[in-house]
Amino acid sequence: MTEKKRTAILISGRGSNMRSLVEAARVPDYPAEIVLVIANRPDAAGIAWAVEHGLPAVVIDHKDYASRADFERVLQAALDTSGVELVALAGFMRLMTPEFVAHWHDRMINIHPSLLPSFKGLHTHEQAIAAGVKIAGCTVHFVRAEMDSGPIIAQAAVPVLSSDTSETLAARILEVEHQVYPFALRLVAAGQARRDGEKVVISSDVNETNRLYSPGI
Ligand code: GAR
Repeated sequence: MTEKKRTAILISGRGSNMRSLVEAARVPDYPAEIVLVIANRPDAAGIAWAVEHGLPAVVIDHKDYASRADFERVLQAALDTSGVELVALAGFMRLMTPEFVAHWHDRMINIHPSLLPSFKGLHTHEQAIAAGVKIAGCTVHFVRAEMDSGPIIAQAAVPVLSSDTSETLAARILEVEHQVYPFALRLVAAGQARRDGEKVVISSDVNETNRLYSPGI
């Protein structure tokens, strides 16, 4: 296998998606290696897990910086010091400047708990329930300056039940997030997700009829 892509995971909270990426990356032939975890909040539960599991982990508290650009300068320095090639946002709830996003163009990915382009922003599960959709899910995409937009790498779908609350729907979606994010990072790190305009083309040696793409009902 060619060199593993040096990957950083950025979190703001619980870090369950981070854990799924870290666990996937333990498999010897996985094409990405997690070399750094960064939290922008000192109380992010995920950072404690990362430290406990021996991962290089730092808190860069955005509140310590006067501007978004100042915060990102420190973030960038940490990424550079660790030789990071790919950035995976995993519940990182901080908007980034267009300059930072441009620097990581096609090298920064995000997971969002909706089937984009539907239901961007906050309260996505409430938005899905309010809209009455019968299928919801999650999306992994390359990050662009506009929030929750960018070429879609992979999506996973789940049913929305009439009895759902935002909590039950969030839990059902989170389960597939933990499958689709490692799958999408694998595609990107292995060079199997090629951008063509603002669409992503998956290489022909990947089975695209994978169950991750269907609701399984
Ligand atoms: C996940 O559901 C993720 O998709 C969402 O935050 C949660 C983080 O959970 N991200 C966004 O809403 C980004 N717009 P986690 O910390 O347990 O991974």
